[in-house]
Amino acid sequence: MSFNKKTIEDVQVNGKRVLVRCDFNVPLKDGVITDENRLVGALPTIKYLVENGAKVILCSHLGKDASKTLAPVAVRLSEMLGKEVVFARDEEVVGENARKAVADMKDGDVVLLENTRCRKEETKNGEELSKELASLCDIYVNDAFGTAHRAHSSTEGVTKFVDTAVCGYLIQKELKFLGEALENPERPFVAILGGSKVSDKIGVIENLLEKVDTLIIGGGMAYTFFKAQGYGVGDSICELDKLDLANELMEKAKQKGVKLMLPTDTKVGKEFAPDTESKIVSCKEMPDGWQGFDIGTDTIKEYVEEVKKAKTVIWNGPLGLSEFKQFAAGTDTMAETLANLTDCTTIIGGGDSAAAVERAGLSDKFTHISTGGGASLEFLEGKKLPGIECLQDK
Ligand code: 3PG
Repeated sequence: MSFNKKTIEDVQVNGKRVLVRCDFNVPLKDGVITDENRLVGALPTIKYLVENGAKVILCSHLGKDASKTLAPVAVRLSEMLGKEVVFARDEEVVGENARKAVADMKDGDVVLLENTRCRKEETKNGEELSKELASLCDIYVNDAFGTAHRAHSSTEGVTKFVDTAVCGYLIQKELKFLGEALENPERPFVAILGGSKVSDKIGVIENLLEKVDTLIIGGGMAYTFFKAQGYGVGDSICELDKLDLANELMEKAKQKGVKLMLPTDTKVGKEFAPDTESKIVSCKEMPDGWQGFDIGTDTIKEYVEEVKKAKTVIWNGPLGLSEFKQFAAGTDTMAETLANLTDCTTIIGGGDSAAAVERAGLSDKFTHISTGGGASLEFLEGKKLPGIECLQDK
């Protein structure tokens, strides 16, 4: 899959009204943004457009519905850009206020529209909102990689009503790193998959089994694989309806010659609580009444040895319950190990694993940390992303 979409550098933006769909769906605590990666990721496109004399109209969703405002994002973006980002406070998103703010723009100005999910049609890819968004601009740019797996009005529908729809630098960068790793990885190529459910990762496991040399499994989903092999799992999370599937995946790995690594020991806890009693046990002897919350020390060593041999690593999903310190050793050790690899392309596939790396203060030590959780997963599954498919080809 070579990248063949037009980009902002392929169109004349000077003096034009350019609507940029960003993913400003950032975590907020008491009105303060607690992870700015997505804002940082959006800056190159915004700066390019400002420097090249475009009128830059930004839009994004925030949260699942209309309950949150993008006002704090406008404030923080103004600081990051060193220039005012006018916030078009408008419950209709493209209502009177937004239209006036856009009409008042001069070349190089930046306006941010209100949370696109203030409009119910957004997530239904409603035509009315798509048309309204299109009416604000001469050129549409999608740079919201994190939302590119959604066919919504602001990510897909709008492109049906504009003459020019291209992508920004963030989407280009994400596809370069994720795409190159999948298509043409330097080997050995190791994928590390964590998270609690096999069912969330079936597509990714299946697609990666076609590509990787080693697949390392951690997190809650490991217990479904144990159960499938006939071992007890105590009270650990386990998808009983996915046991056949887990066996099929293990069989497929064998057929493909992929080394599938499962934990050999695990850290179990009495209860789902940060300070619960815990101990490390063999995965073949998990006691009743205990739940597995992290990979054990032997497994950590085995996994570390394996990734040290790799030339390309993709990691998606924490290896344990890393929000609780006593069950974070697997995830934290993996983050540190990958951060210290010097001759290896290291890619974090967004979501919880990106948060874990961030928490460990190691974000600048990786080749690429994706800004997309769901989007990078779908990409790794080999799916086409509608927010990118709808953009114009070169
Ligand atoms: C994300 O955080 O994964 C993206 O912003 C998409 O958000 P959504 O899952 O609410 O569509």
